[in-house]
Amino acid sequence: MITKPKGTYDILPGESRDWAKLEDVIRKICKIYNYKEIRTPIFESFNVFHRDQNDTSDMVTKETYDFKDRGDRMITLRPEGTAGVARAYIENKLYVENPVSKLFYMGPMFRYERPQKGRNRQFNQFGVEALGSNSPLIDAEIIALGASLIRALGLKDIKVKINSLGDEESRTNYRNVLIEHFSQYKDELCGDCLNRLEKNPLRILDCKVDRHKEFFKNAPKIKDYLTEESKEHFKKVLEALDAMQIQYEVDENLVRGLDYYCHTVFELEVNVPEFGAQNVIGAGGRYDKLIKDLDGPQTPGVGMAFGLERLLLASNLSGKPLTKPESIHAYFIGLGARAQAECLKLMNICRIGGLSCEMDYLGRGLKAQFKAADKNNARFTCILGDNELDDFKINIKDNLTDIQETISIYDVYPYIINKLNQGTSPCASCKEKKE
Ligand code: HAM
Repeated sequence: MITKPKGTYDILPGESRDWAKLEDVIRKICKIYNYKEIRTPIFESFNVFHRDQNDTSDMVTKETYDFKDRGDRMITLRPEGTAGVARAYIENKLYVENPVSKLFYMGPMFRYERPQKGRNRQFNQFGVEALGSNSPLIDAEIIALGASLIRALGLKDIKVKINSLGDEESRTNYRNVLIEHFSQYKDELCGDCLNRLEKNPLRILDCKVDRHKEFFKNAPKIKDYLTEESKEHFKKVLEALDAMQIQYEVDENLVRGLDYYCHTVFELEVNVPEFGAQNVIGAGGRYDKLIKDLDGPQTPGVGMAFGLERLLLASNLSGKPLTKPESIHAYFIGLGARAQAECLKLMNICRIGGLSCEMDYLGRGLKAQFKAADKNNARFTCILGDNELDDFKINIKDNLTDIQETISIYDVYPYIINKLNQGTSPCASCKEKKE
């Protein structure tokens, strides 16, 4: 049997409605915040992600799916959305249209990581990017958008962790003292951190292996090396969050795993024991050099991305289902070949009018067909035998009220519509709630 590749999964019919619902909620939030959808290719030129030889991020150095296509071009499956959006922004000169482009995207990303719960090799992200403004208010807006999404999904126990990496001058100053500090502990650093020591010592603070060692705790803190301008930017972000009553926690060790960040960086953590280490459901930050690094005009940017799998897992575990049980309007039972053919015709009329209908295509008996109506959560069951058909009549049962009537076959559609318009629930499974 051919099976799916490691780190991938199938979204089966029982789950796909939750995905559609989640996407729907996301679109509504983006509309409220006035972010417009952008769809970029799933694969990009290798250089879109591999911009800098000195990049130390795991994502770029260890996790990308890179390959040569048949035309000998180096291609990378996108491991994240930001760089592709930045490439599209430059290539399509979106800056000409609008001084600030507020964009959102959803779709699959690919990272060669060790699969575990909430961590896959193909996973989906929802991301937003605001390009063209260096206002701290837009950093706060993005976090507010994330908070709105979390609220809309009914998720509780979320922590916003935030920090500032400052501008280039702040980071250069900080970099030097960090190198000095960690150089004293070279023997105790893990292999990855030794590599980061010269290239990007900030990322040492992100290390899961060395994090708990004593020399970590007394490492210099970035806040003491921020330039006045950087301090001001961060202060204004926090003030804006306060003004919107968004709770946060400043985490001085938060540096984020990607190398393009400056100034504001943040993560949204969910407190679900089942999540284990994968408790970050969304994260982002400012990246004022990325567009320039991709040969575009100097343009500041800030954004955030959520892992959709983690959002869904968290919302399922929170006990508040995203969707109600699936239902249909009518199930048609035809007793005999002639009646079944008529059922298809009646169903077709109802479907053209927008009603969802189903019938049996397996030639099963009456009992099995009633069961199927039940399984489909049909609000109405329409039963047609040869005798009724001769009289142009059909039996129709309202599964919500248990009332059964015999009506003209020409009245099926208006009968159902009329009942639905009486304000009773469209679905038999909601019966209990209604009563
Ligand atoms: P990231 O932190 O690498 O940031 O990913 C964002 C979110 O994607 C994570 O918080 C997590 O929920 C989800 N995620 C990442 N890797 C996996 C995986 N292997 N399996 C399942 N979910 C995963 C970025 O990607 C940046 N582009 C965010 C950003 C946008 N920064 C600025 N703009």
